[in-house]
Amino acid sequence: MKKLILILAIAISVPGIAIFLSGCEAQRSLAMQKSGAQLWAENCVRCHNIPSPSAYNDVDWETIGLHMRIRANLTAEQQQKIVDFLKSAN
Ligand code: HEC
Repeated sequence: MKKLILILAIAISVPGIAIFLSGCEAQRSLAMQKSGAQLWAENCVRCHNIPSPSAYNDVDWETIGLHMRIRANLTAEQQQKIVDFLKSAN
C-alpha cells in the first residue's frame, strides 16, 4: 500500500516538475530574445534617467557598458546587446 502511494506521488509530481521546468525555460528564452533596445529601456532607467544613445561615443559606451553591467547585474550577453544598440543609435 505504501509503495502504491509512493508510485502515485511520483506519477503526480513528475508532470508538475516538467511543467515547472518548461516554464523556467520559456522565461529564460524570453529574456534571451529581448533586443538591445528593450534591455536598455527596461534596465538603464532603474537607477537614473535613461541615457540617450547620442550622449556618448562608441568608445565611451564600451566602458560605460562594463561599468553598468556590474551595477545593473546584467549578463555579458545582455550588456553586449545594450552596448551594440547604443552604438548603432548614436
Ligand atoms: C543599479 C543602479 C544602476 C543601473 C541599473 C544602471 N546604472 Fe548607470 N549609474 C548608476 C550610478 C550609481 C551612477 C553614478 C556614477 C557611478 O557609479 O559611476 C551611474 C552612472 C551612469 C552613467 C554616467 C552618467 C554621468 O552623467 O556621468 C551612464 C552613462 C550610465 N550610468 C549608463 C547606464 C546604462 C547604459 C545602464 C543600463 C545598462 C545603466 N546605467 C544602469 C547606477 C545604475
